[in-house]
Amino acid sequence: MRDAFDGDFADEDWEHTLGGMHALVHDGRGLAAHGAVVMRRVRSGERWLRVGYVEGVAVRADVRRQGLGGTVMTALERIIARAYDLGALSASDDGALLYTARGWRAWGGRICALGPRGIVRLPDEEGSTYVWPAPARTADPDAELVFDWRDGDVL
Ligand SMILES: CC(C)(COP(=O)(O)OP(=O)(O)OC[C@H]1O[C@@H](n2cnc3c(N)ncnc32)[C@H](O)[C@@H]1OP(=O)(O)O)[C@@H](O)C(=O)NCCC(=O)NCCS
Repeated sequence: MRDAFDGDFADEDWEHTLGGMHALVHDGRGLAAHGAVVMRRVRSGERWLRVGYVEGVAVRADVRRQGLGGTVMTALERIIARAYDLGALSASDDGALLYTARGWRAWGGRICALGPRGIVRLPDEEGSTYVWPAPARTADPDAELVFDWRDGDVL
């Protein structure tokens, strides 16, 4: 994971991938692709949704653009569709291209989290937090999502 993210992958980032389900692709050189989905609670309006949060999607550099990222996402989306109200993730620039091509959409409204001192807005996460399936056209474009808190990157 550190290699795939060019060293920008902290211990907390790995911890955030744990506790749910992993999708792995192996080839003759070892692990070629990885992704995980973990459960988070996210408030939308009056409901605390059961959200399948995608973490640690990475493909070894020598086998990118061969569909392995898509293979991992297909497996994770099946889990989300069967076990969760909604899928969500925080996208890197490369990741955004993969997710957008699969129908994921950046959340248009506010992104917040329920922190130790109450609800805080996370403006840096707005525009890079994606959900799947995409919200209906009739959905309130200003609606906020309030994520549960965690150490390290909250999203
Ligand atoms: C993002 C990442 C997982 C994509 O994996 P991948 O195996 O190369 O993706 P796929 O081959 O399945 O790509 C499927 C489609 O996504 C889009 N896509 C994925 N990466 C792209 C890129 N770098 N540029 C343009 N389009 C891209 C394309 O539409 C592509 O289809 P195409 O190749 O037929 O045009 C990989 O680049 C990676 O590991 N990056 C470093 C870690 C990272 O940023 N992970 C995402 C964290 S949110």
